[in-house]
Amino acid sequence: GRKLASQTVVARIGTSLREAKAFLENGELVGIPTETVYGLAANALDPKAVLSIFETKNRPSFDPLIVHIDSVAKVPVLAAQVPPLALQLAEAFWPGPLTLLLPKRAIIPDLVTAGLDTVALRVPAHPLTLELLRSLAFPLAAPSANPFGYISPTTARHVAEQLGAQVPYILDGGECGVGIESTIVGFPEGQPTIYRLGGLSVEAIERVVGPVQLMPHSSSNPQAPGMLKSHYAPRKPFFLVAKETMEKVPEDGYLLFDTYLDEVPAKYQRVLAPGGNPSEAAHHLFAYLRELDALPVSRIWAEPVPDAGLGRAINDRLRRAAAR
Ligand code: TXA
Ligand code: MG
Repeated sequence: GRKLASQTVVARIGTSLREAKAFLENGELVGIPTETVYGLAANALDPKAVLSIFETKNRPSFDPLIVHIDSVAKVPVLAAQVPPLALQLAEAFWPGPLTLLLPKRAIIPDLVTAGLDTVALRVPAHPLTLELLRSLAFPLAAPSANPFGYISPTTARHVAEQLGAQVPYILDGGECGVGIESTIVGFPEGQPTIYRLGGLSVEAIERVVGPVQLMPHSSSNPQAPGMLKSHYAPRKPFFLVAKETMEKVPEDGYLLFDTYLDEVPAKYQRVLAPGGNPSEAAHHLFAYLRELDALPVSRIWAEPVPDAGLGRAINDRLRRAAAR
């Protein structure tokens, strides 16, 4: 909390690992880059520091956090047990956009897991954040660094614009490469199960562990409390429909997969992937949604993207943005 009486102290953005480390060791929050989205990080083993994450994001306490570690070697410290399939996935995809749900050890504060008996663990693939994690004596709890319910940040500037007044330091690691949050995999009854579609495709996961099941998303599902239907939402009215069904008016904004509309001004259109590559679309998704939200348009129209590779995770985010 850095609010002074007459002045708001805005976060500093920089690349100093030394400063980031000092704030974190002091129980304060730091914005951190990952390959998926920026995180709002604190000492995962310090309940007071973790509490300030929830307060800063305005996040309900029933929505658990992901704990970031620097290597698979740290898993046994935080997880009581690791199913063989989980280990295979970790070895195949870490560092990377994969989060594993594992039985927690008591060292993890209940606030981090919202009282669940599993902890979400991930090794992020960003050189700065990996170096930061290696320099710390504790893991980092970090949700996406956006106010609860809004679009996730993929640049340091996005974090500063929305949470800058409450975060003393943001570590600038450039634009997030993947651009969409990690895929979350758990193992209820030993079955690999996707709790959240994300930056690692279902196809890639199935090549390693065979067929996986998908948790049905629902805002009332206590096993995946963060999977609230209305999430990732721009502030403008947002409609997800096929291109042909969109109302084409010059006052509206348009998020398209690979081609522009002829009927409306190009300046209010964003094309996710002119070459049709779903990974490129994921990389642009949140930044373009933010841009459209900030333009002087009345409403935003988006079309679903092809449902393969990261396209599935993109469609999941678009559906939830439209579900208000
Ligand atoms: O890519 C990412 O995962 C980013 C970067 C910063 O690592 N983090 C992120 O965190 O997306 P967040 O808090 O925005 O989303 C975490 C999701 C939430 O939906 C939460 O419900 C779910 O993980 N989660 C955490 N622990 C869980 C658990 N034990 N069981 C089920 N879901 C869990
Ligand atoms: Mg989030």
